[in-house]
Amino acid sequence: MRLESLKLRNFRNFIELECASFLQVNMFIGKNAQGKSNILESINFALSGESFRGAKSSEILRRDGAVTNAVVEGSVSRLSSTDKIVCDFTNDNKQIQLNGKNSSKSKLRQKYFSVIFCPESLSIVKNGPAERRKFFDDFIDVISIEKAQIREEYVRCIASRNRVLRNALFGKMSHKEAREVLDSLQPIFLQLATKLVSARVETIKSITPKAQSIFKGIFKNPNVDISVDYVISQQSAIAWSANQVYDRLSARSDDLREAEQRVGQSLVGPHKHDVRFIVNGHDSRHYCSQGQQRAMILAYKIAQVLQYYEVYKEYPVLLLDDVFSELDSERRKSILEIFKEIPAQIFLTTTDIEERKDFDKKKRIKIFKVKDGIIE
Ligand SMILES: Nc1ncnc2c1ncn2[C@@H]1O[C@H](COP(=O)(O)OP(=O)(O)OP(=O)(O)O)[C@@H](O)[C@H]1O
Ligand SMILES: [Mg+2]
Repeated sequence: MRLESLKLRNFRNFIELECASFLQVNMFIGKNAQGKSNILESINFALSGESFRGAKSSEILRRDGAVTNAVVEGSVSRLSSTDKIVCDFTNDNKQIQLNGKNSSKSKLRQKYFSVIFCPESLSIVKNGPAERRKFFDDFIDVISIEKAQIREEYVRCIASRNRVLRNALFGKMSHKEAREVLDSLQPIFLQLATKLVSARVETIKSITPKAQSIFKGIFKNPNVDISVDYVISQQSAIAWSANQVYDRLSARSDDLREAEQRVGQSLVGPHKHDVRFIVNGHDSRHYCSQGQQRAMILAYKIAQVLQYYEVYKEYPVLLLDDVFSELDSERRKSILEIFKEIPAQIFLTTTDIEERKDFDKKKRIKIFKVKDGIIE
């Protein structure tokens, strides 16, 4: 899939922008605070209807007393069809249109997909388990309808359990009555929880060899080893069978029955598990340098691009914001080598002009100089 053209009006620091000349690799170059990340954000709106910075509509509107409306318009092609996607922002609302008809983020997601690496992506390693679970779960939703359904059902099941536990805690239901409902939910809860763990582990196992080989390529070191561990109650569960997972969850759920009643929420299940990135046998949170963490997340992002291709026989668009910072020149070079091998359309931002040289030879790269909300 490809972004063919982009039009912006009153989008952050851009008054008007029209661009219809994107190539396979598109590099936005400029000093700090000129609008490079803003452009990437607008491209993501054109592909997915959402901001990768979690921005609200009011933040998107160009800061100028008179501005009441902002627009992103993208022409996006996939296989033989081309679609026009429009995001229209007012102060408190955003409307998405696909070919002139009202649409939604979830509808766009069924057609288009972008993989984003931005400075915030490092929080996948640095922050708590919720971000790591989300990283894999969001991807599961895209590559498998069946697995996405398991996840949705699990989320609904946990919501029901939590409602019952809360009702009992706040006296809206007797503990006896709550226990009966929870007991009746227990078989389906354990079944869905086990299936969701399997879905995550399968995804991790299929994506990790690709990430591993990319990571080795970045460091030009065949001996460096990365993997992901799935952690249930502080124990490595990546190699557990479905029966083992089921038994463990069941036993833990029995153990924490009273604690769940005391706090009024479900304390056992995949919504509490962790996914740890391991480098040379060590937890990357404590063991890796900034550059290694960055390269590892990038390797997993690129692996997502390759995995998406395996499923849909088409490459998603890769958006890379500030991907080169904290990386030395050798690392930058090997990352560029890797980008050259991937037929996906790539949009990237950099403050540095050096990176362009390599791509220029093949004429597949387009350089856009960004200065104060204008592309030169
Ligand atoms: N709603 C808005 N209206 C006007 N300007 C905005 C708005 N939101 C952000 N900006 C400004 O846009 C400018 C460019 O921001 P952007 O994040 O795109 O910079 P950048 O070129 O990526 O810089 P860096 O290299 O430091 O990452 C910033 O000065 C920012 O304050
Ligand atoms: Mg930026």
